[in-house]
Amino acid sequence: EDAEKGGYQHFMLKEIHEQPKAVQETLSRRIDSKTGDIRLDGISLTMEDLQKLTKIVIVACGTAYHAGLVGKYLIEKFARIPVEVDIASEFRYRDPFVDEHTLFIAVSQSGETLDTLMSLREAKSKGARILSIVNVVGSSVARESDDVFYTWAGPEIAVASTKAYTTQLICFYLLALYMGRLKGTVSDDSYRMMMRELNALPEKIQRILDRSKDIEKLAELLYNRTQVFYIGRGLDSAVAYEGSLKLKEISYINSFAIAAGELKHGTIALMEPETTVIALATQDRLFDKMYSNIEEVKARHAHIVTLVKEGHDVKDISTEVITIPNCTDEVAPVLSVVPLQLFAYYVARAKGENIDKPRNLAKSVTVE
Ligand code: G6P
Repeated sequence: EDAEKGGYQHFMLKEIHEQPKAVQETLSRRIDSKTGDIRLDGISLTMEDLQKLTKIVIVACGTAYHAGLVGKYLIEKFARIPVEVDIASEFRYRDPFVDEHTLFIAVSQSGETLDTLMSLREAKSKGARILSIVNVVGSSVARESDDVFYTWAGPEIAVASTKAYTTQLICFYLLALYMGRLKGTVSDDSYRMMMRELNALPEKIQRILDRSKDIEKLAELLYNRTQVFYIGRGLDSAVAYEGSLKLKEISYINSFAIAAGELKHGTIALMEPETTVIALATQDRLFDKMYSNIEEVKARHAHIVTLVKEGHDVKDISTEVITIPNCTDEVAPVLSVVPLQLFAYYVARAKGENIDKPRNLAKSVTVE
């Protein structure tokens, strides 16, 4: 097993570090090396298919569900098709409104999660077209789908999902942009800009990994906290959910994520001096709004770790600052999740937890 860990102490750390390569692989498989355009070989979605669609439903569990939250944002933005995202164990029991004009997207690392598979069957029986975003080749979800978008992340061993998530995100960028191009809802300029941004991600992730030591120090400072809040707006809120899940899965710290604009409707009541808050503020479009949310939390004397793009000055409102390389807002989730994965990892390590096999959790849940 040690040999398989390639010199890393845990599979989770190895898999976090494999992300530049995994993301590169997901991109390379779907981008024509000559033209630089997205190629969805083997996926038969045509312009007519897209015109028939009235909506898209994304269904998944856990980390894959969090990727779906980003997917919704991207598809609605670039392809202008209404998207719902649902948790598989909810979707399958609520008599969902799905018909032959629905594209159902299942997202699953293993392709064997029972709730996701049963949701897929439910949608299929109602006439929906099925596309899946899956890592394990030939898995049940892949076999039962009309089209499969493999993530090509390679085997993921650690229970806490890392490289599967970032590569699921890449699939959503490619899919959303591809559909947007077919429909004519994305301009040539923004398509080209997005392709440049996507191609730059592997190197930018590497830059974050090269500075892991800073996150390790932060984790050593905060590992004995009993409660951590993650807040963000827009795409940052989706990443906040994933960052929070990572922390609770492996460190057993009670963590909670919330869309920052919603704080004032309840959760702010929990803010006390020294409450730990991880505030994601990577979205330029929402930066001022997020800044005021952080100020509100600061006024309650919380311990605030702000995550921003390089060049943003948030020292006045933050106890600590984490930066990610500059990028366009849309691709920020692929970068901002990486320090949060590292943070969860180093906190769990400082606490001496069984990182690759956390208590009560399974890599793939094939029971109800
Ligand atoms: C389990 C794992 C999670 C994973 C979820 C969905 O709960 O512990 O890490 O996100 O299942 O798994 P899937 O294989 O469908 O992506």
